[in-house]
Amino acid sequence: MPKTSNQIASAVSLLKEGKIVAFPTETVYGLGADISIPSAINRIFEIKGRPTNHPLIIHFSEISQLERWAQKIPKAALQLAKYFWPGPLTLILPRTDRVPLNVTGGQNMVGLRIPNHPIALALLKAMGPEKALAAPSANRFGRISPTTANHVFDELGNTVDMILDGGSCKVGLESTIVGFNNNTVTVLRPGSIQPTKLAEVIGKNVIFPKSKNLSLRVSGSLDSHYAPVTPLEIWLTKPLFERALELQKQELHIIMLGWSKVFLNWGENKDFVLFSMPTDPEVYANKLYATLRQFDNGQYDRILLEAPPNNPSWMAIIDRLQRASCVPFIEAAQQPKYR
Ligand code: TXA
Ligand code: MG
Repeated sequence: MPKTSNQIASAVSLLKEGKIVAFPTETVYGLGADISIPSAINRIFEIKGRPTNHPLIIHFSEISQLERWAQKIPKAALQLAKYFWPGPLTLILPRTDRVPLNVTGGQNMVGLRIPNHPIALALLKAMGPEKALAAPSANRFGRISPTTANHVFDELGNTVDMILDGGSCKVGLESTIVGFNNNTVTVLRPGSIQPTKLAEVIGKNVIFPKSKNLSLRVSGSLDSHYAPVTPLEIWLTKPLFERALELQKQELHIIMLGWSKVFLNWGENKDFVLFSMPTDPEVYANKLYATLRQFDNGQYDRILLEAPPNNPSWMAIIDRLQRASCVPFIEAAQQPKYR
């Protein structure tokens, strides 16, 4: 498409001048900057309002460039890269000197990924084999990642120099992040690639630190992230109903998002705004951020969300929801699997 190739050419010139270009990936939209231009990297942190010790993920287009950015690459990392790239997987590896420390938050480890989106790949290829783009999710620090070009504009407006529109992101949740340490392989951020699949590819166990109880965090260690402005609360199905009635008595406007039949049946003929969420985890993930944005419009005092099923394929969704929830949500593992 000539229109797209013109836009890619403009994006490349802007990036090479140290400007910031938001672009689509299969996970979420990224806020791109040339890693070799310090002022561009500084601007990324400024635009996002992100602390400068939070490392950025580096994006590139060809697996043959991996050794340009990483060294002492473990065999398991190479196996995963070959199997999943381009794809929603970020590998944390020792950086080479070509990766500036301002990109890694001062650490000697760097996060690397080849995204699987035609526009992202075309952009990265057009930058040339010696270049790479730092690209954190194109949202303000702590907020929900954007999954459409409009979300990016709503979030950042004209603070970015260009937004490449690639439609809505297929996966909808950020990449799976994997780290390697003393012969162990650890999932640091769950994503659409399941730990069991990673283990199958490398032929050995993969550690998921929170896998015993589906990443439960205790009250007080709540790390607000991926959060809408409207307070979001997650509850198991039955407590959700009690909570809704309690908030209703306080005359608060609430929107309830749920997936089970029990949820939808309960809500029938009651004076609540109910929204039915997908029951397939891939579809749920794809819609989640857009749905939260849709209801985060000042119209509601509270978003109440029914905890998803207790099942490993919901792990990444539960992880993000727990960070978005303003109440400690420590009982996820007790959620039954009923429909
Ligand atoms: O799907 C994604 O990964 C998206 C798209 C745009 O590629 N990017 C993304 O970037 O989610 P960001 O910056 O929003 O999240 C990056 C995460 C952070 O939680 C950061 O701590 C972790 O990756 N990370 C990056 N480099 C790291 C490193 N060297 N060591 C440990 N964690 C790292
Ligand atoms: Mg982010």
